[in-house]
Amino acid sequence: MRKKIVAGNWKMNLNYEEGQKLTSEIVNMYKDENIKDVTVVLNPPFVHLFPVKKLIGNTPNLFLGSQNCSEKAAGAYTGETSASMLKSFGAEYVILGHSERREYFKESNELLTAKVRQALDYGLTPIFCCGEPLEIREAGTHEAYVKNQLTESLFGLSAEDFAKIVIAYEPIWAIGTGKTASSDQAQEMHKALREHLASKFGQEAADHTSILYGGSCNPGNAKDLFSKADVDGGLIGGASLKSRDFMDIIKSF
Ligand code: PGA
Repeated sequence: MRKKIVAGNWKMNLNYEEGQKLTSEIVNMYKDENIKDVTVVLNPPFVHLFPVKKLIGNTPNLFLGSQNCSEKAAGAYTGETSASMLKSFGAEYVILGHSERREYFKESNELLTAKVRQALDYGLTPIFCCGEPLEIREAGTHEAYVKNQLTESLFGLSAEDFAKIVIAYEPIWAIGTGKTASSDQAQEMHKALREHLASKFGQEAADHTSILYGGSCNPGNAKDLFSKADVDGGLIGGASLKSRDFMDIIKSF
């Protein structure tokens, strides 16, 4: 059985008080509402990691993640944060290759290979993002485009390392736009990606890989998306900033 995962991506939002308030609400609701069998990950900006971890404590199945890490282990890289630092501050997951990082910070598939390596070397689980822009979807070449992102960044991994990866499919045209992929579009891509992973790492490994959907996922559409055979949860942006919405998504399996 693969894990059901809902990860919240705060992006560059919330000051200290707002972050503490949101986390406290989520932790309390999470405990009160008896969530079972869902792994929940909060991915705040770096400066929030430590105080958010303090509030999460050892709540079972509720984890801390970051939105990025350096491709370097340590050294003179001003402004960067290493995977080993993140781990030492209590992070268990790291989002890598988000389309905003690819677009605004020019992160290439090659750079992401190095980031994935760092994450794995220091015991973080990468939530590896992939997804196509609108023009690629309209040209009908989206499957090949997204498969290539996986091939170039992940296919050099050993089977043992690959088994630690979580994939997040996020069509760029659906991120923050209010325009969600239909559950059939999500399922079609997730199935194609799972087949692609199976061709390299074997069917069993592919069957154990959680593939999350991201892009305007909200309490109104999560149930439909999560009902699909190859959709194992969500990477949630905007709706993860509202505790009730985020919890309702978590409860949508
Ligand atoms: P969104 O963002 O839910 O606000 O569309 C998803 C993401 O970018 O991870």
